[in-house]
Amino acid sequence: MIMSIKSPEYAQRRTQLMQQMQPNSVAILYAAPVVKRSYCLDYPYRPNSDFYYLSGFNEPEAVLVMIPGRKNGEFVVFCREKNQAQELWHGKRLGLQGVMNELGANEALPIGDIDQILPNLIAGKDALYYAFADGSYINAQINKWLTKVKKNAYAPTKFIDLEDLLHEMRVRKSSTEIALMQKAADISADAHIKAMQNCQVGMYEYQLEAILEHHFKQNGAKFCAYNSIVAAGNNACTLHYTDNNCVIDDNDLILIDAGCELDCYASDVTRTFPANGKFTSEQLALYDVVLQANLAAIDCIKPGISFDLPHQISVEIITEGLLELGILQGDKEQLIQQGAYKDFYMHRVSHWLGLDVHDVGSYREQQNHQNWRNLEVAMVLTIEPGIYIAADNQQVAPKWRGIGIRIEDDIVVTPNGCQVLTNKVPKDPKQIELLMQGK
Ligand code: GLY
Ligand code: MN
Ligand code: MN
Repeated sequence: MIMSIKSPEYAQRRTQLMQQMQPNSVAILYAAPVVKRSYCLDYPYRPNSDFYYLSGFNEPEAVLVMIPGRKNGEFVVFCREKNQAQELWHGKRLGLQGVMNELGANEALPIGDIDQILPNLIAGKDALYYAFADGSYINAQINKWLTKVKKNAYAPTKFIDLEDLLHEMRVRKSSTEIALMQKAADISADAHIKAMQNCQVGMYEYQLEAILEHHFKQNGAKFCAYNSIVAAGNNACTLHYTDNNCVIDDNDLILIDAGCELDCYASDVTRTFPANGKFTSEQLALYDVVLQANLAAIDCIKPGISFDLPHQISVEIITEGLLELGILQGDKEQLIQQGAYKDFYMHRVSHWLGLDVHDVGSYREQQNHQNWRNLEVAMVLTIEPGIYIAADNQQVAPKWRGIGIRIEDDIVVTPNGCQVLTNKVPKDPKQIELLMQGK
C-alpha cells in the first residue's frame, strides 16, 4: 500500500504551502542527491522527505519550483529527460511528459537547462524560499542565479527558510499518512513477534536482524526506517548499538529497536525480551518499572497536554522504581530535581514520527520558544522509556549490571486521547514468555 503519485494530497499540500508564502515570492526545493557508496556504486536512492511530501516524486536530479499566482501555472518541475541508454542501465524515468501527467506539474523542463530558465522564474520576485539546511551546493546555485537576474531585473532580497513552513505542516498527519503509518507499524509489529518466536540462545544478533528485515521486505517495506538495533545483554546499554555481531547468551535480555519504512513513512518499535524465554527476577523487576513508565506515559496522551508531560511522568515512575529496588537512594523529589535518573535513563521519552524517524517540527511553542508545545489531534509521536545499567557500572549491586531495557510504541493523538499504532506486538512480560514458548 503506497500513496499514488497522482494523489490529490500532494497538490493540496503545495496549495497549503503557497497560501502561507509571502506575496510575490517563489519557493525552490531540490531533490536529494545520489550518494556514492564506493567506486562506481551508489547507496539505494531515498528521496528528500520534504521533496517527497510535496510531490511523491522519487527521482534524483530534480527541482520543484512553486510560484503562487503565476499565470502560466504555479508548479514547475525541472527533471531528467527520457534517455533510452540511461534507462537501460539505471531504470525508468518519468521524463518531462510523465512529470506533467503523473505529478501534475504545469510545466516540466530539462534539469540541464535550469541555469538558463530558473533566473527568469525568480526575476522580479521579492522573496525566495529555499531549504537553508540543504547547504553549500544550493547556496552556490542561488547566488549564481541571483547574479544573472541582477544584470537585467529586480532580484529577490528576502530569503526565507522553506523548512519553517513545511516542517510545521508535517507535524500534523493526514488520514492517509496515519493509515500508512499504521500499516508500517503492523509490519514492524509482526517482525518483532517473529524475532521473539525464533530467537535462540547461541544465535548471532545479526541473525535476528535478518528475521526482522526479511519480514519487512516480504511485506512491501523495502527499507528500514533506521539501522536496526539488535542488542543482547550489555550491548543494550549502548543506546544506538548497530554492530549486531555478538552471540546471544543464555541469560541475556535482548533489546530490539527496529522499524520498517513504508512509502517513506517510518515506524519505530522497541521490545526487550529474554533470550531463553524466561525473565530472571532482576530483569523482570527492572522491566516492570519501564513497562509502568511506558503505560502511564501513553495513558496521559490527549489533545491539550504539554509535549513534556509524558516525559515527566516517565521520569517520576522510573525514579520511584529505581528507589524501590535500592538502585537509587534518597528523597524522590530531590532525586528528580538533581536528575539522578539520568545515570540510568539518559534520553527523553518521545520524538515526532513521520516521513523521518526523528521527524521534523518544533517541540516548542511558536510564540514563546521557552515553552513546550501542546499536543494536537493527528500528531504522531513515540513513547520510549528505558533503563540501562552497564556491566561496568560500579555504583550499583552486580546483580543489576549488564541490563538494558527500552519499550517503544508509536502513538497518534486522537480527539479523545490516543491510538497506539504498535500495540499488536506484546509488551506484557507474561505474554512475551508465552509467545516465546509457542503458546
Ligand atoms: N530508533 C531510534 C529511536 O528510537 O529514537
Ligand atoms: Mn524512537
Ligand atoms: Mn527506536
